[in-house]
Amino acid sequence: MPDLDAMLDAAQAARLKAYAPYSKFLVGAAIQSGSGAIFAGANVENAAYPQGSCAEASAISAMVMAGERRIAAMVVVGGGEGLTTPCGGCRQRIREFAGGATPIHVAGPEGLRASFTLAELLPHSFGPENLTA
Ligand code: THU
Repeated sequence: MPDLDAMLDAAQAARLKAYAPYSKFLVGAAIQSGSGAIFAGANVENAAYPQGSCAEASAISAMVMAGERRIAAMVVVGGGEGLTTPCGGCRQRIREFAGGATPIHVAGPEGLRASFTLAELLPHSFGPENLTA
């Protein structure tokens, strides 16, 4: 069973490390992997704007570098009034390591705001199994 509080804590801590001098929009993400370990990441922007990377991509890299290949659950924490749901590209990045039922929780600095499944965010998705005969 994913540990939502531990993921929220990790994502909040990661958000405070974000490098976002251009948008000033700090984002943190945390993954609970198949083993139960938690991996976090933050957005890292760049003066050449398109080269910036999202918090989700950073957390996925941390998970893969630890030798893990399955996202059991994920939390994304952003600021502002709205929901910091993963961008379109990150939905596909998450899909690589997660199934449709995987919970994706969205939070703000004050705590949890909404919960989705990956299938709700990325319906009729294309994933690794589509490439198998
Ligand atoms: N961003 C993320 O890191 N994840 C999201 O889910 C949405 C957007 C970042 C990208 C950019 O650094 C900043 O937030 C503003 O778009």
